Amino acid sequence: MAKTKTTFYCQNCGNQYAKWMGQCSACGEWNTIVEELVRKGKDKAGWNSNAPAGTPKPTAIKEVDIGAEQRINTAGNELNRVLGGGLVAGSVVLLGGEPGIGKSTLMLQIALRMRKTRILYVSGEESEKQIRMRAERIGITNEECFLLPETASQRIFEAAESLAPHMLVIDSIQTLYSDLVESTPGSVSQIRQCTAELIRYAKDTNVPVFVIGHITKEGNLAGPKVLEHMVDVVLQFEGDRNYNYRLLRAHKNRFGSTQELGIYEMHGGGLREVDNPSELLVSEKDEPTSGTAIAATLEGMRPMMIEIQALVSSAVYGNPQRSSTGFDTRRLNMLLAVLEKRCGFKLAQKDVFLNITGGIKVDDPAIDLGVVTAILSSNVDLALTEKVCFAAEVGLTGEIRPVQRIEQRIKEAEKLGFDKIFISKFNKVKTADFKIKVIQESKIERIFQQLFA
Ligand code: TYD
Ligand code: MG
Repeated sequence: MAKTKTTFYCQNCGNQYAKWMGQCSACGEWNTIVEELVRKGKDKAGWNSNAPAGTPKPTAIKEVDIGAEQRINTAGNELNRVLGGGLVAGSVVLLGGEPGIGKSTLMLQIALRMRKTRILYVSGEESEKQIRMRAERIGITNEECFLLPETASQRIFEAAESLAPHMLVIDSIQTLYSDLVESTPGSVSQIRQCTAELIRYAKDTNVPVFVIGHITKEGNLAGPKVLEHMVDVVLQFEGDRNYNYRLLRAHKNRFGSTQELGIYEMHGGGLREVDNPSELLVSEKDEPTSGTAIAATLEGMRPMMIEIQALVSSAVYGNPQRSSTGFDTRRLNMLLAVLEKRCGFKLAQKDVFLNITGGIKVDDPAIDLGVVTAILSSNVDLALTEKVCFAAEVGLTGEIRPVQRIEQRIKEAEKLGFDKIFISKFNKVKTADFKIKVIQESKIERIFQQLFA
């Protein structure tokens, strides 16, 4: 084994120490000092890159050959889109998520679906048998998918060298260890070292690597933030345990936008891609009920209709309660204050509960008008009888403000069979271009009169 030396660094300010301490004396932060590896001389380190000898020669930016960008189709539209149009060769993608959310299922499913691509699926968490059983459940077979239950990074690279896969999946970075660092698997320095080795492997061989990572209670990827800086793409797989669908978001993407969202539904046979999220999020009802409104929101580039439910009732106790699920409570309070002060609706002595159905969280201001309508509808106990939806922000003076990408929202509403959409008067759109009736307003009271009067 190569001779190694470790030293301690503060993750916050980078100060170096000979031994571990609880507090960094340079910046005063607690628990930021971690052991790290210092490599002496020309030791082999993990994935052994054969760097050419001689003085390095910089290249003029104009002369750098980019060729045609290679994007690998991952056999899943949702993942392809979140990655920015497919997987880039030689990239390292970190997939984070809480335990049990379906990270292993997603990766295995991708590995089984891809064709003409040799995949090495390394699992430090499950045995070959367990993975095989999961594959049976998913119900797809792929002769080119190889399993390796292994946790030693050097042995993984040996296996990768002999198999020469086109894609490598590491199920989970927390189980991996490198001989070059003394600490236990899952520790910060092990995670950093193994990730660094995987990155070097990916860059040297041009093989894309998916790395699964667990998430801590605070919602961070276990291991330091630096891990997120090291990799090319950080994806987060999230969802509510009480619901079956799962959202895949890009938190960082060196090759595309971080706006895209992938939606999946977990069922008995693995994850199903959800092409039309609106159908999933707008609940079916026999007859119109008061307190609900549909808002046209955007997740990334994709328009989506969501259902907002509100319940307004007289406060039984002194202080009225305000609570919301899926929507910022402070924003709810602000909207209630606007309704009270600017529009004269008496809600101060009312309990207000708000819920975005489907358990998703929305922070798009364009749903404000939908929220306000749901609240008013519940307050007067009158249902929206027509098929209407809303897309506008509500300002502090009670004005209805324009929102971005309004055409996309209107088109989605039209596609889903809505008759009317309420938007801001200040959104510039050619209303004649749409079959759906586009109503432009600037005041909440006027909308209230049209809907409930
Ligand atoms: P898993 O991929 O093991 O989660 P992670 O790797 O993120 O820890 O997913 C585990 C959950 O998914 C488990 O609760 C069972 C469920 N599941 C299904 O509902 N259907 C399926 O076909 C599979 C394979 C898993
Ligand atoms: Mg797993």
